[in-house]
Amino acid sequence: MTARLLELDDLGPGALTRILDRALRWKREPGSVPAVLGGHAVAAYFEKPSTRTRVSVEVAVATLGGHPIFIREEDVRIDDRESAEDVARTLASMCRIIAARVRAHGLLERMQGAVDVPVVNLLSDAAHPCQALADLLTIRERFGTLEGLRVAYVGDGNNVAASLAFGAALSGIELVVASPPGFELDPDVVERARNLGGTVDLAADPYDAVRDADVVYTDVWTSMGQEDEAEQRRRAFAGWTVDAALMAAAGPQAVFMHCLPAHRGEEVASEVIDGPRSVVWQQAANRMHAARSLFAELVGEGR
Ligand code: CP
Ligand code: NVA
Repeated sequence: MTARLLELDDLGPGALTRILDRALRWKREPGSVPAVLGGHAVAAYFEKPSTRTRVSVEVAVATLGGHPIFIREEDVRIDDRESAEDVARTLASMCRIIAARVRAHGLLERMQGAVDVPVVNLLSDAAHPCQALADLLTIRERFGTLEGLRVAYVGDGNNVAASLAFGAALSGIELVVASPPGFELDPDVVERARNLGGTVDLAADPYDAVRDADVVYTDVWTSMGQEDEAEQRRRAFAGWTVDAALMAAAGPQAVFMHCLPAHRGEEVASEVIDGPRSVVWQQAANRMHAARSLFAELVGEGR
């Protein structure tokens, strides 16, 4: 039963397949999107900047007939003006879904603990499940399937990598995550993803990781909130840029993915992200299609 999305393993494989199928169907036939949020509002609370996530949520809710309400951190001042629980209770009394981008993942747990409406993680320090849904959608569009594909994530074992690991585990993708020492994917995430039946391997060499990969994925070396570590991270990740040589090692079928925003010359070379094998704009557009289908699932569409 899907009643929230704090991390992708809140979805069972059945819900995940339904969300991806419906997203693809509605993308092909936008005229068939029903107003399942008609008469409802969705709160979208942000403690960090956003381009894709905010716009995808607002467009998704509007095209489902609902009303998105964008709320900045400074407007509500959680745990200063009032507690996270009281904010969540108030939002839940007027909104069908609470979506939130937060620094600390635990804040999402606290909000969900206080309310019955679904809470959706729009990125936390630990996870970015809405991104992973759009990633899976993009991979399925490209290859026609997910089961048995090989995805190589090269870079920081961060929130994006964690949600990708759960997405891979739930969909039969074989994932290898290659990171420099000290920046590996959280062992708890690896264990949880493996317990779902997933193949999640760790690697220390990006060239080993990308061999036979269908997808080469990377993200920024310094995530939002880690800006003080930027210089140290630039040093630690030297030599880890996804460039044409690394893409050549992945084989001719491999596409390049990045959740964006990107830093050309750091985690990815311009020749790759702006080259013919990059699917990053399709991936960005799919944020809306994935979010729309997710919201419909959360309010019971098709079940
Ligand atoms: N990929 C992603 O979440 O982008 P934004 O930070 O711009 O929302
Ligand atoms: N890992 C990045 C993703 C941004 C969409 C961050 O958390 O800043």
